[in-house]
Amino acid sequence: MAYPYQIKSEEQYKEHYKRSVENPEAFWAEIAENFSWRKKWNKVLEWDFRKPKIEWFIGGKLNITENCLDRHLTENANKTAILWEPNNPHEKARSFTYKELFDEVCLFANVLRNNGIKKGDRVCIYLPMVPELSIAMLACARIGAIHSVVFGGFSAIALRDRIDDAGCSLVITSDGAYRGEKQISMKDTIDDALLGCESVKRVIVLSRTNKPISMIGGRDVWWDDEIKAAQNIIGDKCEAEEMDAEDMLFILYTSGSTGKPKGVVHTTGGYMVWTTYTFVNTFQYSPDQIHFCTADLGWITGHSYTLYGPLCAGATTIMFEGIPTYPDAGRFWDIVDKYKVDILYTAPTAIRSLMASGVSWFEGKDLSSLKVLGSVGEPINEEAWHWYDENVGKKKCPIVDTWWQTETAGIMISNLAGVTPSKPTFATLPLPGVQPVIVDDKGNELAGGDVSGNLCIKFPWPGIVRDNYGNTERYRQSYFSTYENLYFSGDGCLRDNDGNYRITGRVDDVLNVSGHRIGTAEVENAINMHTGVVESAVVAFPHAIKGEGIYAYVILKGMHIDEDHTKKDINETVSRIIGAIAKPDKIQFVKELPKTRSGKIMRRILRKIAEKNDDTGDTSTLLNPGIVDEIKQGARNM
Ligand code: WTA
Repeated sequence: MAYPYQIKSEEQYKEHYKRSVENPEAFWAEIAENFSWRKKWNKVLEWDFRKPKIEWFIGGKLNITENCLDRHLTENANKTAILWEPNNPHEKARSFTYKELFDEVCLFANVLRNNGIKKGDRVCIYLPMVPELSIAMLACARIGAIHSVVFGGFSAIALRDRIDDAGCSLVITSDGAYRGEKQISMKDTIDDALLGCESVKRVIVLSRTNKPISMIGGRDVWWDDEIKAAQNIIGDKCEAEEMDAEDMLFILYTSGSTGKPKGVVHTTGGYMVWTTYTFVNTFQYSPDQIHFCTADLGWITGHSYTLYGPLCAGATTIMFEGIPTYPDAGRFWDIVDKYKVDILYTAPTAIRSLMASGVSWFEGKDLSSLKVLGSVGEPINEEAWHWYDENVGKKKCPIVDTWWQTETAGIMISNLAGVTPSKPTFATLPLPGVQPVIVDDKGNELAGGDVSGNLCIKFPWPGIVRDNYGNTERYRQSYFSTYENLYFSGDGCLRDNDGNYRITGRVDDVLNVSGHRIGTAEVENAINMHTGVVESAVVAFPHAIKGEGIYAYVILKGMHIDEDHTKKDINETVSRIIGAIAKPDKIQFVKELPKTRSGKIMRRILRKIAEKNDDTGDTSTLLNPGIVDEIKQGARNM
């Protein structure tokens, strides 16, 4: 497969960028021509951030799986689409050619149809990183069902909220999951989540760990049995559903600044064009390469750069079930060596944790196949950047530091590997089609270099979030109401004199823990559900491996056994309500929280204390200024 839209030089980047701003419609029409459409669009773009309304490739008809699968079958049927590496290196790896993947997707799409699922229905997918996860997502897309993948680390209650919010009628899960040394029960969590849930009529269960599980008659069925049944009734072929370019492709829940997660909606045509375009350009993918994105498909990075982008580009993509430190901290390097990986795309938190394990894990591992390294999910610190460059890339591989979000669907600001220059800790320049602006708190655009403020985007790109599922008003408020006529990212950033952007982190109440987005309000709600808790306030503090850790200040009215025990109990409560990923790293019991006279918690002060910064500024206007010193003292004793 050739990519006529692949940018090959810095001059070309400048020229493409200029065209994308001067005439976006012609620019994107030309790129979209490289995909397979049942019917071409009538108009490329209509938009109004004030409403908000954004539509791309209006009137276009397509099915994204025909782009991921069918169109590769004429020339690349036997090319490997997915290489699957199991958690346990001694278990047999699996791989799928494009033809094999196509066949599996058709079979499972028929299973969904046979279970009454049709276009527009919502399907919740709660599976470990096994090939069936990709197959299930693509099968949904094939028949026009909307998938909502939930990361395996979320609790039953978090899962239930997401299933209810989307009104899912079917769930796809497994008995259990392997993660490092642990076995995680997926079906038990689903059973708890579905207690009293009315919308879910069917649960399809894949066998992975073969642990005994409950199977509720009339509701729960086995994956394998369903495949046989669908084959008998419908057969092996599955005609793809014709989708409108703006028909919903998936919902993916992510944290915002309020307690309830947001159902980010992406649609078919724009998502396909944007993820493929950014994949091919950022990583400079060439068709014989092996691409290894380490993200779980439960996150947007997995959706866009493990699955949809690479498959639309006809690439070979690796799915890894395990974790970077199992059975030891050399696992990534084993995988790179084993599959001769060309592109490695991972998160700073993984890099920092491997960095802490030392360089001995590289011994005897051949990393010479690597050509491009990528970083995503959080700011990468200088030390981690250089360690990645020296030890993994051997100073021969460009590093792309890619800034983007669940809401942007794909990479927004990044250097293009080997084509435009990198600058450690800077995401550098916007991709063609992306028009970033930096604004001050009042929304005034800050021009020129050497400025810092809030990062906004002033023009739509094909992958921009289209809605908040079931709550368009929240969609408007979250992204388009802070600054007039701009998409607000929630991130702070600065721009140097060469126009390079450096993202400095969230400016809203969202934490970034190990590259995972977690809302402070969500964690506070969970802590407050613990018996005896009166009030709590959660802030981030710098964490050597996770980037940000969770620091919770908690007011208690009663304590069970002792402080340590109570802290552990609170952690258990948070695990139950959200999942282990949201457990506070530090809990400090306090008598009061610093508040303004109007009763607002002064998080700025709490953040300073959590950062061990004594300079908490002027506290005289607080309702309870005396409490600040007491909290500082308590923090020192922790
Ligand atoms: C942060 C992940 C600095 C940022 C793709 C953003 C980054 C949030 C970078 C989105 C980067 C992502 N440098 N910060 N290269 N990439 N972020 O929705 O704060 O899980 O708003 O999407 O991660 O996280 P999300």
